[in-house]
Amino acid sequence: MKFFVDTADIADIKELADTGLLDGVTTNPSIIAKSGRDFMEVTREICGIVDGPVSAEVVALDHAGMMREAEVLRKIADNVCIKVPLTIDGLKTCKALTGEGTMVNVTLCFSANQALLAAKAGATFISPFIGRHDDNGFDGIDLISDIRLIYDNYAYETQILAASIRHGVHVLQCAKIGADVMTAPPAVIKGLFKHILTDKGIEGFMADWAKTGQSI
Ligand code: E4P
Repeated sequence: MKFFVDTADIADIKELADTGLLDGVTTNPSIIAKSGRDFMEVTREICGIVDGPVSAEVVALDHAGMMREAEVLRKIADNVCIKVPLTIDGLKTCKALTGEGTMVNVTLCFSANQALLAAKAGATFISPFIGRHDDNGFDGIDLISDIRLIYDNYAYETQILAASIRHGVHVLQCAKIGADVMTAPPAVIKGLFKHILTDKGIEGFMADWAKTGQSI
């Protein structure tokens, strides 16, 4: 499973990229607003740190406006992936951009039928939002399962990018189901490295090693 980080925080992106385990980055207008940075400038900086896809979201709601914004965004770097909302205009834009060889991430997906439409529009990634689905009384993990089944039935190449991930259990469930990618906030990804028994084990080994008086 590929790991994307859902942030525009440069320090966090660099820290995770240094592990060699980071495959891409996702942003959205709320994340950019939180960063307080210029959209173009921060996107360019992120694209220089990570080789994989960096999602940058259009804010126009009509097809012509989305195409105009995508034209500006895709000039930033070769690894920019244009993020469009799951609307009729968003999918029209998706079809046009992927036809021109540009990566597209279709976002704000809350149903398997929407995901089916995105695959038919040739999306590179579909982003079903697990956490927000759960928050509204639906089962976000069931949504991922349904999309996996449908995409496998028809051998769609659109990658399932599990988004709105809130904790490690979401990551585990997505990996079991076979989501292609997951995007999570830096804290969630960093939390995956941690286990209390790993910490306790290191503590015990270090204490016993110190008793030997040896060094390597
Ligand atoms: C994905 O691309 C989205 O930016 C993100 O996962 C949304 O997560 P949230 O529901 O925690 O805002």
